Amino acid sequence: MYKALFFLMILGLLSCKEEKASISSTEKTVTVKEPLQMYQLSEMASFMEDMYVAHEHIKEKALKGEAPDTLPYDLSKLHTATFTDAADNDETYQRMANVFIEYEEQMVEDPEHIKQHYNNSVKLCISCHQLKCTGPIPRIKKLLIN
Ligand code: HEC
Repeated sequence: MYKALFFLMILGLLSCKEEKASISSTEKTVTVKEPLQMYQLSEMASFMEDMYVAHEHIKEKALKGEAPDTLPYDLSKLHTATFTDAADNDETYQRMANVFIEYEEQMVEDPEHIKQHYNNSVKLCISCHQLKCTGPIPRIKKLLIN
């Protein structure tokens, strides 16, 4: 029981605050092995994780000058998925989510400038995270095309 609480505390810290990249993969292993399943990613957090992986792929393509035909995730989830902490879903969040969605759509609509639109989009991930969820910022920065 204490062990589970301890994990819960660490995971709680990891999600939005001080995330240490090296712990992050251990975290996943621990979650899977932990039979009590005390901690689950919120809908929004797991959507964000999906977007993260998808952006790694978009980045690879963009580096070759290729743009995605469609986005492999549903951006409307930014407005519908449930948060770990509902208080994060405020007006600022909503506004930034809308700007983010526009940037994301430009990657598909204007493939000629894929690198530029891709980076604008990742910068928006970072801007929103500076206000809402600073933990993953070092990881998100790795998505930028330099
Ligand atoms: C409009 C604001 C906003 C934008 C844009 C945004 N995020 Fe997030 N992100 C959040 C919030 C809020 C959370 C916390 C969600 C929760 O725990 O319910 C989060 C959580 C995360 C997490 C942590 C999930 C976990 O393991 O707990 C990652 C990773 C992440 N976002 C990556 C990204 C990436 C990559 C992008 C851009 C492609 C992005 N985010 C765009 C607000 C945003």
